[in-house]
Amino acid sequence: MADEKAEPQVIRAPKGTHDVLWPESARWEALVAAFSGRARRAGFGLTITPVFEDARLFRRGIGGDSDVVSKEMYEFTDRDERPLALRPEGTAPIVRAFVQHNPPVPWKAWYLTPAFRYERPQAGRYRQHHQLGVEVLGTEDADLDVEVIALAARFYADLGLRRIDLAVNSMGCGEDRARYVDVLRAFLTEHAAELCDEHRQRFTTHPLRVLDCKRPACRAVTENAPRLVDYLDESCAAHFTRVRTGLDALGIVYRLEPRLVRGLDYYTRTTFEFAASALDAAQNAIGGGGRYDGLSEAIGGPPNPGIGFGIGIERLLLACDAEGCFAVTPTPADAFVIDLTGGEQARDLVDELRQAGLVALRAYDGRSPKSQMKQADRSGARFAVIVGTEELSTGVVTLRPLRDPGEQETVPRRDIAARLSPLSSEG
Ligand code: HAM
Repeated sequence: MADEKAEPQVIRAPKGTHDVLWPESARWEALVAAFSGRARRAGFGLTITPVFEDARLFRRGIGGDSDVVSKEMYEFTDRDERPLALRPEGTAPIVRAFVQHNPPVPWKAWYLTPAFRYERPQAGRYRQHHQLGVEVLGTEDADLDVEVIALAARFYADLGLRRIDLAVNSMGCGEDRARYVDVLRAFLTEHAAELCDEHRQRFTTHPLRVLDCKRPACRAVTENAPRLVDYLDESCAAHFTRVRTGLDALGIVYRLEPRLVRGLDYYTRTTFEFAASALDAAQNAIGGGGRYDGLSEAIGGPPNPGIGFGIGIERLLLACDAEGCFAVTPTPADAFVIDLTGGEQARDLVDELRQAGLVALRAYDGRSPKSQMKQADRSGARFAVIVGTEELSTGVVTLRPLRDPGEQETVPRRDIAARLSPLSSEG
């Protein structure tokens, strides 16, 4: 028996990552186009930042002992021993770019980014996932919170999603938060024995994280915990009222979720999360965000309030599958050129058709007429444009419908692009 170790190994994508191939990627294309359209109409511009950053950005920005940073971040040093990290999320890099370039405010950025988290892979949970997101920097106007939440809500609706649960909370800020944390810690101390193993150990240092714990033991305790919204100071309370009034005015249905604190430490005031009711609870969060009025300072910048959200593309598509919506059929090619004269005609014709704005395909490697015809059928193209020896000598091509009923016809070669253009599915 051959030594298996000596066999060349087939290299596969790393655990927890996945490839998106054509035609599934047509859905991604359509998704990104729908999102960028919405974002552009709201004044957001595409922003691209590096996929790796100084690791300190995330430690300071997200919180060094948050799960995302302490357990899940991909960290490494480069050849010059610089501490770097693959971005686990998109917000801190955008705020870093804002601080670095100091653009006029309000600054509205949208992004599409991979995010890396060393999690236990399962359906809807990856080590590399992808987010669509927006961030606005430079204003604390509560109407912007409404605008940002509305953008996400309307986008989900654009895709045809109906079973969406929007939870909203306010995390307060500064002193009111500190006051609440003391009250919560006292409450949890009384119930320490009932908490899950992890939080029984950790609740004194991180009482807010207990509110985020999904284990039944902690859920049962926090059901009756004091609520952050009841401890907001006057300005945070007024801010939150304005947000809620705005959501009502726009007809955006939400529920108040007093335990919504989210897993990243930078949040202040408004937080929100969208869950897809059609998915299992373990990975039904299809988007979330909130305000982070102290993040700019935390990473060494001047004070600058901000708000945004991130939407997980993979989960969003799972939600669409579960609801049977947003099925995207790739646009069929306009023409498949079949060249029975050696290939030069196909070479020239596809170029000519593409120059005219048409989607044109052909076969390669000198395939037989039968094989070219088979490929044309399989390609889903709407028409075959056939050039045989006789056509070539008389300056015509044969145009044969492949999908729609109709007779084949002979068209002067110089007219073929003009003849196909009005029929183009791209147009
Ligand atoms: P996040 O809630 O950690 O927030 O992630 C945003 C979304 O990314 C989640 O709602 C989920 O859809 C998706 N997601 C997260 N982790 C995974 C994973 N391992 N596999 C698949 N999908 C995942 C943030 O990242 C914040 N930066 C959002 C934000 C923007 N807050 C303010 N601005």
